[in-house]
Amino acid sequence: MSTGTVMSTYNRLPVSFSHGEGVWLFDDNGKRYLDAISGIGVNALGHAHPELTRRLQAQAGELLHTSNVYGVKNQQALADALCAASGMDNVFFCNSGAEGNEAAIKLARLYGHSRDIDRPTIVVMENAFHGRTMATLTASGNRKVQAGFEPLINGFTRAPYGDIKALENIAKNNHDVCAVLLEPIQGEGGVNLLPEGFMESLRALCDQHHWLLMLDEVQTGNGRTGKYFAYQHSSVLPDVVVTAKGLGGGVPIGACLAKGTAASLFKPGNHGSTFGGNPLACAAGLAVVESLHTEKLIDNAEAMGQRLLDGLRERLANNKGVIKVRGKGLMIGIQMAGSCGELVAQALEAGLLINVTADKVVRLLPPLTINEQEIQGLIDTLCPLIDAWQQQPSAA
Ligand SMILES: Cc1ncc(COP(=O)(O)O)c(C=O)c1O
Repeated sequence: MSTGTVMSTYNRLPVSFSHGEGVWLFDDNGKRYLDAISGIGVNALGHAHPELTRRLQAQAGELLHTSNVYGVKNQQALADALCAASGMDNVFFCNSGAEGNEAAIKLARLYGHSRDIDRPTIVVMENAFHGRTMATLTASGNRKVQAGFEPLINGFTRAPYGDIKALENIAKNNHDVCAVLLEPIQGEGGVNLLPEGFMESLRALCDQHHWLLMLDEVQTGNGRTGKYFAYQHSSVLPDVVVTAKGLGGGVPIGACLAKGTAASLFKPGNHGSTFGGNPLACAAGLAVVESLHTEKLIDNAEAMGQRLLDGLRERLANNKGVIKVRGKGLMIGIQMAGSCGELVAQALEAGLLINVTADKVVRLLPPLTINEQEIQGLIDTLCPLIDAWQQQPSAA
């Protein structure tokens, strides 16, 4: 497909869509696709959700944008809803996940300086993904994302994901550390889960060393894993939570939430965003948060996610090319024995939208509105492709 005058930052698939409905997308020729990736975890309510559409249309007719130098009613209402859902104290609104993480990184540095640390350092994880800005690509644990953009930013140190001993060692040896930033489940890194009890141990370590515990819930937030935020599967409260993706249901919005000391660090002039939290974006956020609640979509994510996980495990049990099927709620990864990028085009041909990340992991992030029949359709379409993939000589 020609990309014309658009910079070629993406290898695009040979399809574009004219419209969508629920979990379905329709291409320009009228072919229907089950969307099991939701624009990489964005369309939490599916496509053309009636309440989201209604709220956006109404808001567009009233007010699109004013400025953050004035009061923004929708922003206040969305901040209240997010604080109620998270246990956090306040929110900074921005437009993307990377921007939300930038806000968290700036909070950590302010916090470090408030503790008289001259070179505040943030612990980040191997295989992490936090975005494409200079600070967030530095925080990401993937050389492909960083290569060519050196010099990277100072003030980060890295640990293996889920290794509490490694973090304890850093605490012993590096007195510049003021915060730790991680994803509760790594998305781009391959749908990697933390060991049971890790979050509690990490909270205790952070308390002991006065580190901020900062969670990147850009992908895991807003009901995706069967709780509003993924840390709610544990008993801990973080100091900072970043979210984006599903929050606007397709309208760009990001948020950095903070609690306690972290919530009082930013003062006027420290940070800002022209568009962040504008009336239209916050109308979308409010429609998403309210629909998650009224349509019980977080419970649905948990139930349908379990059904998908069980169904895939059962159907793929004898497939030697499948190492593991893992995930939480509607964030599922199928770890394959070899590179499996070709499955994306094969699935597309079969009317199914999926994604492959970390080279060998089929990633599924369907809308949280998905029902039993659609889950079954997903399994029935995907599993034969994975079986055929396993027959290829290059599979292992
Ligand atoms: C965990 C995580 N953090 C940050 C980002 C970056 O978000 P954005 O592309 O909205 O800047 C992503 C995007 O995939 C992500 O998955």
